[in-house]
Amino acid sequence: MRVLSGIQPTGRFHWGNYFGAIRQYIALQEEHNGYYFIADLHALTTIRRPDELRGLVRDAAMDLFALGLDPQRATVFVQSHVPEVSELCWILMTGAPMGLLERCHAYKDKKAKGLTADAGLFTYPVLMAADILAYDADLVPVGEDQIQHIEVCRDLAGSFNHQFGEVFTLPKPLVMDDAARVPGTDGEKMSKSYNNTLPLFGDEKAIRKQIMRIVTDSRPPAEPKDPETDHLYALYRLFVAPDAAAELADRYRQGGFGYGDVKKLLADASEAFFVNARARRRELEARPDYVNDVLADGAKRARQKAAEVLDRARAACGLR
Ligand code: ADP
Ligand code: TRP
Repeated sequence: MRVLSGIQPTGRFHWGNYFGAIRQYIALQEEHNGYYFIADLHALTTIRRPDELRGLVRDAAMDLFALGLDPQRATVFVQSHVPEVSELCWILMTGAPMGLLERCHAYKDKKAKGLTADAGLFTYPVLMAADILAYDADLVPVGEDQIQHIEVCRDLAGSFNHQFGEVFTLPKPLVMDDAARVPGTDGEKMSKSYNNTLPLFGDEKAIRKQIMRIVTDSRPPAEPKDPETDHLYALYRLFVAPDAAAELADRYRQGGFGYGDVKKLLADASEAFFVNARARRRELEARPDYVNDVLADGAKRARQKAAEVLDRARAACGLR
């Protein structure tokens, strides 16, 4: 099975990205032929400062390697380093119905808000389809919000195959467990769009402060509480073994503890959880050439595959 996914470098990665996506990529690389990329072409629809984009791509690469994505096992690369994808995107664009793209939520939501969208945002799902089809991906691990885009990809691939012959592999989404929906500092879904994120890396003291500021209700410590409805507990559970989580759940049900105590436990548990990743990230920061080499090697391997698929597509539709 060929597994592929992309992640946009539109901000520093947060706990939601790790538990909702990156952790799955790492688990999947053990058994599958994995392709994972940093979607800088997609990010360009929002990040319009060159130095910022360059920095975010670099940080994204170091974060992914530090967390355990292994370039020996998976092909890890930067989206724009594979120009074949952009040509494939054009080929797919010629067969993409306007109505299909008008229904896609990124564009539709922006338009509904009365904002002006550009062609990049409008055609974003076609580029995503090219990303997937270029590597003959079978499975695409994504969050719920991306399922629509996988459907678009299947539609575009299906109609191309119907017109020109069997060129593309139709992918299936691997929808990541909704239980992994990580709450943010305000209790809503953690997302960089909501400004409620807890970063994976960065100054530990600053992160601790952010944890201590997580919003809680004003019930007194003595009152027993239901752990299953509490976002502090939901976060804590991500970082510890089941018996430690059960122990805290019991304390919730008994009452007699303050949210401040839970926040301290959470800060300690998250620091311990990421301690090795932090050490690896520091090593990577000291070896910028190594990171560049690994990405160049990933791009080389990715291009080999993408060139083969592009060649099939060109031949099928008469471009060669
Ligand atoms: P953001 O919402 O911060 O912009 P993205 O949309 O770029 O994050 O998400 C990248 C990946 O991380 C996606 O696979 C998405 O499903 C996952 N993800 C993001 N936030 C969360 C969250 N709070 N809980 C679980 N998964 C998440
Ligand atoms: N659009 C995806 C997101 O915002 C990122 C992405 C780009 C992607 N190309 C992809 C994901 C191809 C899976 C497959 O999360």
